[in-house]
Amino acid sequence: MKEIKAIVRPFMLEHILDALESIEGLPGVTLSKVSGWGKSRAASVTSPVREAGHAFAPKSQLEVVVPDEMVEAVLSAIAGAARTGKPGDGKVFVIDASDALKIRTGERGDAAI
Ligand SMILES: Nc1ncnc2c1ncn2[C@@H]1O[C@H](COP(=O)(O)OP(=O)(O)OP(=O)(O)O)[C@@H](O)[C@H]1O
Ligand SMILES: [Mg+2]
Repeated sequence: MKEIKAIVRPFMLEHILDALESIEGLPGVTLSKVSGWGKSRAASVTSPVREAGHAFAPKSQLEVVVPDEMVEAVLSAIAGAARTGKPGDGKVFVIDASDALKIRTGERGDAAI
């Protein structure tokens, strides 16, 4: 089981969600508004968010926890839909998830996703 965390451009979100939702059996998505910077910092951002005196780019974060066999489909959907080719397109991190618990049923592991 893996957690896929994608930090993407907010204006690409609808397109990315369309791509994700076309994956059969996708079990869920969490969406957050976040701010950040990468190697190229937020220098080219037209309207940076200022926090604690520092400039950040506004970004959308998607978290999807999937069984191992679904990871590549999620990565290709995100990469295909989120890319403009310009700095700031975002990043995707794949993180080992050791377990899950579905609260309503008490199921564990892949069955809980
Ligand atoms: N190593 C990192 N750790 C945590 N968050 C990161 C990391 N790299 C990027 N991010 C997050 O992803 C967002 C998008 O990163 P971005 O695509 O600008 O990366 P970059 O390394 O600057 O590449 P580019 O040169 O294409 O802009 C950042 O605003 C930040 O929120
Ligand atoms: Mg950047």
